[in-house]
Parts: sequence; C-alpha cells; structure tokens
Amino acid sequence: STALRVALLGCGTVGSEVARLLIGQAHDLQARVGRPLELVGIAVRRAGRDRAGIDPALFTTDAPALVTRDDVDLVIEVIGGIEPARSLILAALRHGKSVVTANKALLAEDGGTLFAAAEQAGVDLYFEAAVAGAIPIIRPLRESLVGDEITSVIGIVNGTTNFILDKMDSEGAGFAETLAEAQELGYAEADPTADVEAFDAAAKAAILASLAFHTRVTAGDVYREGITEVSTTDIASAREMGSVVKLLAICQLSSGDDGREQSVSVRVHPAMIPRSHPLAGVGGAYNAVFVESRSAGRLMFYGPGAGGGPTASAVLGDLVTVARNRVRGASGPGESTYAARPISPIGSV
Ligand code: HSE
Repeated sequence: STALRVALLGCGTVGSEVARLLIGQAHDLQARVGRPLELVGIAVRRAGRDRAGIDPALFTTDAPALVTRDDVDLVIEVIGGIEPARSLILAALRHGKSVVTANKALLAEDGGTLFAAAEQAGVDLYFEAAVAGAIPIIRPLRESLVGDEITSVIGIVNGTTNFILDKMDSEGAGFAETLAEAQELGYAEADPTADVEAFDAAAKAAILASLAFHTRVTAGDVYREGITEVSTTDIASAREMGSVVKLLAICQLSSGDDGREQSVSVRVHPAMIPRSHPLAGVGGAYNAVFVESRSAGRLMFYGPGAGGGPTASAVLGDLVTVARNRVRGASGPGESTYAARPISPIGSV
C-alpha cells in the first residue's frame, strides 16, 4: 500500500528522537496505521551538522518548500517558538496536510488562527506533546471528558522547575547548578528563562484552560510568577512547616453571584503545599495534572513531563492518530471544542 509521507520540522532534542523512532519503529507503526509512514524530509536551520544515525539526504534548510510539497501528507512541527513555526504550520494546513505540533508557546499565543485554518482545510491539528510531555492530558480534556463539566485543573506542568525545586528541597542544591543539570538532561527550553520565569507553564495553563472550559485563554491572560525568587531559605521554612514548594498552574471556573455568569481564572506561581498532598510527591522532571469535574469527580494524570523520549512518545501517538484518520478519510475534534460556551477570561487574581 502507498506510504503516508511525513515531513519533520526541527531536529533538536525532541525532533531527533522522533526521527529515530519513526525510522526504527517503522514496521510497528505501519501495522498500527495500516499503511507505511515514510519520513521524507527534515527541515533544520543549519545543514551539515552531524546528526548521528539519520540519513544526511533527509535534511533540508528549505522548510517552506518541504511543508508544501505535493507528496507530503503529514507534518510534524517541533521547532518551537512563534516564527517561523506559525507560518510553516499555516502553510502546511492550507496545503491540506495534517499537522502534529508540540508548540505550546504558539498554541497559547495564536491557537485560534491555527485551528481555524485546520477547520477550513478539513485536516487535523494535534498537540498532545504541547503539555506535560508523555502524559495524556490533551485528549482526555478534548475528548474523554468533553461530556462532563470541568471545574478546575491544577498542575505541575514544567519539568525543569519541578526538577530544580525538588533538588533544592531534597539535596539543598543551589539554583544555578540544578538548572545546568536540567539543561544537560534535555528538560529545559532553548532559553531556560521560559522555564524559570514560568512562561512555559503559563502557555501550558492557557492551553489546558481553553480545552477544559471551552473558551480561548491566551498566554497573556495568565497571571504568571516564576521560581527565581524562591530561595533555599524559603524551601527550608516550608519544610519546617511540613510543606513543599511547587510551581503550580491553577485553572478555575467560578460562578458569579447570580450563579449564571461564569468566569475563568488562570494563574501560575510557586505555592506551598502540605507534604501529604498528592502533588507534593511529584519529584524530578515529572509532571502531574489534577482535574475536577461535576460528574467524574477527581482525576489525576501523572508521568514524565519533559525530555526527548517522553515528548517523542506523545508526538508519535498523535502522528499515528492523524495518519489513521487520513487513511479513513476522517478527522478528529476540530474548532467546535472551543465554541460550546463563551466565557470571558478574567486573567489575574
Ligand atoms: N521545558 C519544558 C519543561 C519541556 O521543563 O517542562 C516540556 O515542555
């Protein structure tokens, strides 16, 4: 049977792992999709760098040409950042390609434009890897729980800062050395300011709140405070009180006085939580997301939230899903997920 042809944008920590798995697990992926998945090109900023194990012929610096190639069916974007990622994704969607992206910053800033383009072209836009790495949380919010009413989502959604706070607590380690270690392990963003100043967590919070509450929350709507002011003294005093300091993303739906007007508040800041709290036990670069809903009650999602392998797992899960949809001439949930109930985000608290 004819192959579905895949273009990959970006070959960093996540991209190189995606490429490795796409090639190495080709046989299994083919069995799961029903057609072969063929990686036909990898767009990178600079050619000629040694990327061990990947056929050099696959690399190109001409990303716009790659995403609009007639023979490309599916595009994976793992470049990150706003541009050129946005233009490339839009071009791909408008040319009828389904897109898988891990780009939380872009989705949180301008997701609406991307979803509208996907809807118009009748193709898929999947982004499980954008929040909490390998943990399935986008599909549960977008699909499994969509018949319920979610009232709150509270999460540890940045692995780098959790890794730092955890080490400061358990080993009394300093901030700078721990950050360097997180960078070496491939957890941190290219610019770790995004992690420690909580821009990364704020983007993820905006995505989660948008899905949970069927509205459009952008990164700018999120109250944000990072962990740079958290000292070892703060952590020691929290410990004395039987507590631990965590960077939390808190998304809440609240009813107004008349019980009808609903508003959404989304915030990210360091918070002290008692050691007995389930979130307190989330160590290392692990993430966890707690969801509370009217009918289901409380749910917890927990697992590896950063790093090449875990993020590539989520990307490939999306790739198989959009490939299956394409084989069947179907598509997954579109823009309507945001249209069900208008709520005005109130931003900070
Ligand atoms: N820098 C991010 C983190 C990577 O530390 O969680 C996953 O999005």
